[in-house]
Amino acid sequence: MKIESFELERSQSLWENRVDYNLTESGVHPYNIKEIMNQAEIDELLSLRIGYGQTNGSIELRETISNLYPSSNKDQILVTNGSAEANFISMWSLLKPEDELVLMLPNYMQIWGIANSFGVKVKPFYLKFEDNWEPDLSELQELISDKTKMIAVCNPNNPTGAILEEKDMHEIVNLAKEADAWIYSDEVYSGVRIDGGVEDPTFWGMYDKTIVCNGLAKSYALPGLRIGWLTGPEEFIEEAWGYHDYTSISTGIISQQIASLVLKPNLRKRILERNRDILKTNLSALTKWLDQHPEIFEYVLPRAGGMVFIKYDLDINSTELARKLREEKSVLVVAGDCFGMDNYIRLGIGSEKEYFLKGLSLVDETLQELKKS
Ligand SMILES: Cc1ncc(COP(=O)(O)O)c(C=O)c1O
Repeated sequence: MKIESFELERSQSLWENRVDYNLTESGVHPYNIKEIMNQAEIDELLSLRIGYGQTNGSIELRETISNLYPSSNKDQILVTNGSAEANFISMWSLLKPEDELVLMLPNYMQIWGIANSFGVKVKPFYLKFEDNWEPDLSELQELISDKTKMIAVCNPNNPTGAILEEKDMHEIVNLAKEADAWIYSDEVYSGVRIDGGVEDPTFWGMYDKTIVCNGLAKSYALPGLRIGWLTGPEEFIEEAWGYHDYTSISTGIISQQIASLVLKPNLRKRILERNRDILKTNLSALTKWLDQHPEIFEYVLPRAGGMVFIKYDLDINSTELARKLREEKSVLVVAGDCFGMDNYIRLGIGSEKEYFLKGLSLVDETLQELKKS
C-alpha cells in the first residue's frame, strides 16, 4: 500500500516551530497544568504509577465521556491517541477496497487520504462558499450507491467553521438509513460555538449506525494530551479496540487522568467559556482587518472552530502565497491547496490577541506589495 502525503499536517509540522507567527493552528491557545488543576489534583497526579492503565481508556474517563452522549455507556467509548487515531482506526476497521465512501469536502484531509490509500472509492460532496458553506444534498443523494459503506462528515467543519443545519442532518441520516450506510461524524470542533447557537451539534442519537469522533485538541485547548475518543455501538467499539491494540495499545495514563478532570461539568464549562471568549475576540479583530481589504477578501463567518477559510482575489497561487509569507515575514498560514482549493487561505484565530494581531500586520505588508505588483 502506498500512502498519500498528508499535505496539511506535513506543511504545519515542517514550519510551525520555526516561524515567528504561526497562524495555522485551528485550536485555541493551549493551557498549562497549573491553569486547570489545583494543588491537590497536581499532587495526586505526581504520585500516579506510570503503568499502561486500561488500554481502551480508564473506566472513570470512559464514564465521564459517556455522560456527554445521552443513552450511551462506557462500553460505547474507546479512548484514542487524539481524534487522529480515532479516525484512522475507524476507517481501517470499517472500509474495504470494494466499498465506497461519500465524504464531505472541504475537510481535514485525513479520512480522504486514508480511504484513498486503502483503495476505497471516495465520492466527495461539497460545502459551497456561495451557499454559506452549506451542502446541496441532492448532489449527495446522487452519489449514493449500493456500495456506499459510509457517509463521513466533519461537523463543525474544518476548514470552514460551518455547521450543518438540523434539517440537513436529518436528511443525511435518512439517506444513510436508506443505504444502510454508517454515518461517521468527526465532531472535534464541537463545544465552542462562536455564533451563539447550540454548543454541541451532534449526530449522536439520530441513527443507530452512527459513530462520533471527538477529542481534547481543539475546543478544549489541550492538544498535547493527545486524547481523543470514539462513541459508537458497542460491537463497533469492541472491534475498534482490537485495531487499537495494533496501533498504539493505549493512551498515556497521565493524559487520561487529566482528561477525566477536564471533562467534569464545572471545569469543562470554564474551559469552553475561556476558549469561546478568545475565539470571539480574535474573530472580531480578524473581520475588521478583512473588511479593510474588500477588494481582496471574501469570507463566510465561521460558526465554530478556531479558524476562518478566506477567499482571496490576488494573482498568486495559495501555496506560493503561504511560502512568501513564511520566507519573507516568518508568518505561517495554511494554503487552500492543502484542501484542494486554490485562492483560499486558512487563518487560525485561537492564539493570544497581541501575537495574532502582529501576525496579521505582517500579512498586511505582503498584501500591499502584491497589490502594487
Ligand atoms: C477535523 C479534525 N479531526 C481530527 C484532527 C486531529 O486532531 P487530534 O488528533 O489532535 O485530536 C484534526 C486536527 O486538526 C481535525 O481538524
